[in-house]
Amino acid sequence: MSLTRRQFLWSAAATAALSSPKLSHAWPLALQAPANPEFAGGRFRHGVASGDPLADRVILWTCVTPPDEVAAAAVDVRWRVATDERILQVVAQGTARTGRERDFTVKVDAGGLQPGRPYYYVFEAGGDRSPVGRTRTLPAGAVDRVRLASLCCSNYPAGFFNVYRCVANRDDLDAVVHVGDYIYEFENGRYGDGSGLLRIPEPRKEAVTLSDYRIRYATYRTDPDLQEAHRRHPFIAVWDDHELTNDAWLDGAVNHNPETGEGDWPTRRAAAYQAYLEWMPIREVPGGDIHLYRSFRFGTLVDLVMLDTRALRDQQVATTDLEGLANPRRSILGAPQEEWLFNELRASQRAGTGWRVLGQQVMFARVAQPGRGALISDSWEGYQPARDRVLDFLSAERVRDVAILSGDMHSSWAFDVPRNPWEGYDRGGQGSLAVELLAPAISSPPLFTSPEMRDRSVLLRALLPHLKFLEGDSRGYVLLDITRAQLRGEWYFVPTVLERSAAETRAAAFVCERGSAHLADA
Ligand SMILES: [Fe+2]
Repeated sequence: MSLTRRQFLWSAAATAALSSPKLSHAWPLALQAPANPEFAGGRFRHGVASGDPLADRVILWTCVTPPDEVAAAAVDVRWRVATDERILQVVAQGTARTGRERDFTVKVDAGGLQPGRPYYYVFEAGGDRSPVGRTRTLPAGAVDRVRLASLCCSNYPAGFFNVYRCVANRDDLDAVVHVGDYIYEFENGRYGDGSGLLRIPEPRKEAVTLSDYRIRYATYRTDPDLQEAHRRHPFIAVWDDHELTNDAWLDGAVNHNPETGEGDWPTRRAAAYQAYLEWMPIREVPGGDIHLYRSFRFGTLVDLVMLDTRALRDQQVATTDLEGLANPRRSILGAPQEEWLFNELRASQRAGTGWRVLGQQVMFARVAQPGRGALISDSWEGYQPARDRVLDFLSAERVRDVAILSGDMHSSWAFDVPRNPWEGYDRGGQGSLAVELLAPAISSPPLFTSPEMRDRSVLLRALLPHLKFLEGDSRGYVLLDITRAQLRGEWYFVPTVLERSAAETRAAAFVCERGSAHLADA
């Protein structure tokens, strides 16, 4: 049956299918023996990590597993940073204390470092030594090239983290940008069944309490491929909904059900936040406040502006709620963050920085025609005046060379981003204000695998003039190479998540020339 665009966008089935990418395909995994899950031994079985690099400092992370965790009141952990892998030329060191109150995680903001160079770090406690991690400070001043990997949606029971292994194997990344769904809160089998792969996400129930979320992160961090990605590169991460729970907003979530004993939302949200801060190598704001949105300056070349489009948003409305979708008071960022974003963009443009890269969770580009509802209302499409405010700001303030990184869709998309793709835009990029590069999942089930969804992807390609690439069958990541002259995005796919593998293939490449706001086939 052929559908007109209008029918497609209004089709309840299409809307339902596209608005719940996270729950639609529970799929059986082939029964296979797990490949050697070699964990880091001793007290450091969750590995090491680094993140939120600045030009002079970086967050270093580990977690200690004391021999008798119940009895251990406090553990002192010695840390050292060196310029060499053997940790001989030490440039910073100290001791950090941890304990049960923070799940025995350790976070150090190691300062006094030089910009734009690799460092190596190690932790020691009780005679055990952690693996040696490698990290990198942000460059300062004139910078020729920045290389980032953008990824999302690592679902432990749904498959092996081969994407993390491929990213770990790259030697020359400045940072890994994780745009969310680092964990999934579901019980095993709800969205990915890890029984056959021996990848059961503990606890076996849905994560709801602080203890649940801590155990969930700890399970994920036993994965050797994830450990290796962290050990080799600094991460700059933001949460999406599943670090909290499915389809979350400021005051609740679709998958939060007090009536089934899950308690009140503020308590659950606080638990999820605390576990995230404990387990992720993210810089904490003094006073323990959560401040997910923050920015990173790669010399004069890139300002990376990380957003929280998830936890501060107003509640989602139905895809057919025209009034709600058009309500200018509904916000996806919240007013303080929106003002902060505009200030960051304005300052970056005025400083002459080459590119402004937004690292954020959900699809930004328009996929439904104006006034015709939304195809997906969990993304920026569900907050249309808020999206228009961003685009109007870019236009009015002449903020150029903006690339938006996103994920959440378990499929790969590349867009030019005009205000209205059907008016004042041509396929050559005229009228576009930015570009968007949406990364597929690391292991979550791809969105467009059913015959019905394949048909929809064909339709989308035909109907959206600003859509440059859509692939919905594969898992992978986006590699970004940024120079003064151009921003290049390459989609790399992995052939399987049913067994451990470091294989990958380059599936697509697009280039945005400076000043063009247009993605061209590379
Ligand atoms: Fe996801």
